[in-house]
Amino acid sequence: MSSPRDVPLDGPRDAVEAVTHPDPFPFYRRLREERPLFFDTHLGLWVASSHAAVSEALVHPALRVRPPAEPVPRALQGRATGEVFAQLVRMTDGAFHAAHKPEVEQAVRRWTLADVACAAKDAARDLRPRLPANAFIAALPVQTMARLLAAPAGERESTCRWVAQFTQGIAAGADAQALERADAAAAALMDQGRALGLSEVQAANRIAFMQQALDAGSGLLGHVALQLAQDPQQAAAADASPDTMRALVREVERWAAPIQNTRRFAAEALKLLGQPIAAGQALLLVLASANRDEAFNTQPDRLDVHREGGRTMGFGAGPHACPGAVIAIEMVAACASWMRAAGQFDHYFERCTGFRPLPNARIPVFGQ
Ligand code: HEM
Repeated sequence: MSSPRDVPLDGPRDAVEAVTHPDPFPFYRRLREERPLFFDTHLGLWVASSHAAVSEALVHPALRVRPPAEPVPRALQGRATGEVFAQLVRMTDGAFHAAHKPEVEQAVRRWTLADVACAAKDAARDLRPRLPANAFIAALPVQTMARLLAAPAGERESTCRWVAQFTQGIAAGADAQALERADAAAAALMDQGRALGLSEVQAANRIAFMQQALDAGSGLLGHVALQLAQDPQQAAAADASPDTMRALVREVERWAAPIQNTRRFAAEALKLLGQPIAAGQALLLVLASANRDEAFNTQPDRLDVHREGGRTMGFGAGPHACPGAVIAIEMVAACASWMRAAGQFDHYFERCTGFRPLPNARIPVFGQ
């Protein structure tokens, strides 16, 4: 199959650069139309962009969330951070994942929407007066989760810092200092979980609730804020009804896809859409592109809050589907509603100047 460089495309160079491109969607459309599944020789991985390719990959039993030869990244092995990593449902497949995912899903179900809204508003009330917009969207999701997860009130700031340090430590290419900070953070967060009477696996996945919420939640909040700031008429309709605000958050998630892609690794040789993929090869699944596939949503490029039957791959699908989707939507809707009702929204999210330089999360950066 041809490489993307054989046929030049407008816009971003590749599907990783697309994450932070001002408008990656025409590029995604061309990928879907011209090569919905191809090997990008520059990135060194397969890129799946059509709904058919992405959805087949997300449920394929031979496609795993980690390279089978390295279930825990080499740099983390033998460290506190690696011990936590090894127990995360997000990072495991097979028997371990199947055994523990139901418990993670159950843990999420214990919160009502009212619990989530209350935690999000409380966090917003605390953070809004003292943080600029970019720091606010970075802190709000973890501060909300920390409240739901019963982090001691006096430890909320440290909890937020530890989650950020843990997240930086597990990112590819973390340096020695970042790894040391991540180890200390992992130890402190595990202690919090143990103090609540949780098992080791439960305590590790309690950290994941906050770590998963960090970038994905910031991205969702950022895109919703942007949309509300850009469309006063739509914002007024959302102000008038919590259900309309929720519908707006859901549609913005589908349309903007704060988590633009996720990765999989072939544990054995397989075929995807009939295309052979060799054991050991990696795949980039472009969730943001799948959401804009006409085979998945009608008039997919239209942001339509009243859309009926809108569907998203933005929270993943299959065995690793996000268990936090409902919480994430409620958290962002409640936060936005509170800010607007309290007169804390206007002029805060005025101008988007770009996106944070991340390989899979598209998080708006706000400027003055
Ligand atoms: C309250 C906030 C959130 C929590 C607690 C949460 C939690 C989680 C957890 C524990 C997983 C791992 C599930 C597994 O591997 O079996 C996961 C997966 C995922 N989450 Fe979330 N999440 C949150 C917000 C979000 C948001 C806002 C998005 C995107 C808009 C998102 C997108 C995803 C995706 C795409 C996956 C699947 C990754 C994959 O299959 O490779 N999450 N989430």
